[in-house]
Amino acid sequence: MADQSKADVAGRQPSSRVAQWIDHRLPVFTFVNHELNDYPTPRNLNYLWNFGSLAGFMLVVMIFTGVVLAMHYTADSNLAFGSVEHIMRDVNYGWMIRYIHLNGASFFFIATYIHIFRGLYYGSYKAPRELLWMLGVVILLLMMATAFLGYVLPWSQMGFWGATVITNLFSAIPVVGESIVTWLWGGFSVDNPTLQRFYALHYLLPFVIVGVVMLHLVALHRHGSNNPLGIDRNGSGDSIPFHPYYTVKDLLGLAAFLLVFAFFVFYLPNYLNSADAFIPANPLRTPAEVVPQWYFLPFYAILRSIPNKLAGVIAMFSAVAVLFILPWLDTSKVRSARFRPIYKWVFWLLVIDVIALGWVGANKPEGLFVLIGRVGTFYYFFHFLVVMPLLGAFERPLPLPTSIGSAVLPKGGAHPAAAQVPVHSP
Ligand code: HEM
Repeated sequence: MADQSKADVAGRQPSSRVAQWIDHRLPVFTFVNHELNDYPTPRNLNYLWNFGSLAGFMLVVMIFTGVVLAMHYTADSNLAFGSVEHIMRDVNYGWMIRYIHLNGASFFFIATYIHIFRGLYYGSYKAPRELLWMLGVVILLLMMATAFLGYVLPWSQMGFWGATVITNLFSAIPVVGESIVTWLWGGFSVDNPTLQRFYALHYLLPFVIVGVVMLHLVALHRHGSNNPLGIDRNGSGDSIPFHPYYTVKDLLGLAAFLLVFAFFVFYLPNYLNSADAFIPANPLRTPAEVVPQWYFLPFYAILRSIPNKLAGVIAMFSAVAVLFILPWLDTSKVRSARFRPIYKWVFWLLVIDVIALGWVGANKPEGLFVLIGRVGTFYYFFHFLVVMPLLGAFERPLPLPTSIGSAVLPKGGAHPAAAQVPVHSP
């Protein structure tokens, strides 16, 4: 016991005298040590818990490559397309920086979507993590806005017409709609003022995201991570220090993620891009199809599945907004789907529904796609607004384990191999 309290003290004090001097005045070392080193973490987190740090990593990559691109990009409707070509051909490693940024957006969304569905499966949005979840939804909205604005900057046919279609949606708002669109454009069509304000906001929003991510992490560290069992930690046998256990696990996940990411950047850099992204914007020629990036497709399908424009716009925004109130729509007392025999299946139905909507969004709204889009849209809202509230009342959850240690350690932690790791309380 005496040894352990010595370790406690040693763990909190920086070893170098310079660091001690700084820490006494500005406790940065104590903070990092507390939040990232001995931070007690459930001992049973699986690899799905890597995606938060992967999203954080991608945020840093996007800001870094974005700032470098900004050094060579020109936000002028006559020069933007050419400046991007200049980055690709003349700037040293410009092609690589641009492809990392371009594909990075997709991989940022991949990490974030897996992160969200992980939260849905294990009920991480439930009390006491409601605000953590809601901050996540704010981040998602900011990410979507940033990605949309960025898509317009190369001033290609795709970006230009994407901007025209999406900004025009606001014209569906009664009375003030047209005025809002003119205000957004900074004129009477998508033109140079639109490009310049989109650029200013595209540069700004990622830093706003950084701020909200910090709040997200403060909220996370208030009660600590949820875990695959969805039960609260109960004593030190349930926790292990974040370092080295999860720093190593996160690094291994990052290595695997980077392999796939690098494969896209170096071997399939335009796989997720559209042919119209290679044609300079021409306000007099509408492309045959204006298709958004893959990460917007399910929402785009919802927009098009409703025959009325205003109702479609409302449905599209509601598809994200409904996530804000999810912690109160889900009435089940049990967090993890592992112990919810019906929700387990309902969750996968939602996954299939979202993928189907994405498929519909990528195709022309005709024939069977119209029907699938409408059924998919109906089911999406049915899931959140009807199934989630009712399921909590009718489902009989399986019995929960009494502690994480008793559920995941051999012989409930009584085995000699399952030595308990000392953990400092938060
Ligand atoms: C820039 C985007 C984001 C970053 C950098 C980020 C970062 C993180 C990190 C590092 C964690 C802890 C590790 C983990 O549990 O995976 C976390 C947890 C969490 N995040 Fe995010 N996040 C982002 C977006 C979101 C979004 C969009 C949502 C939901 C709509 C969300 C909801 C949550 C929840 C509920 C937890 C707690 C999970 C648990 O303890 O089981 N996050 N986030």
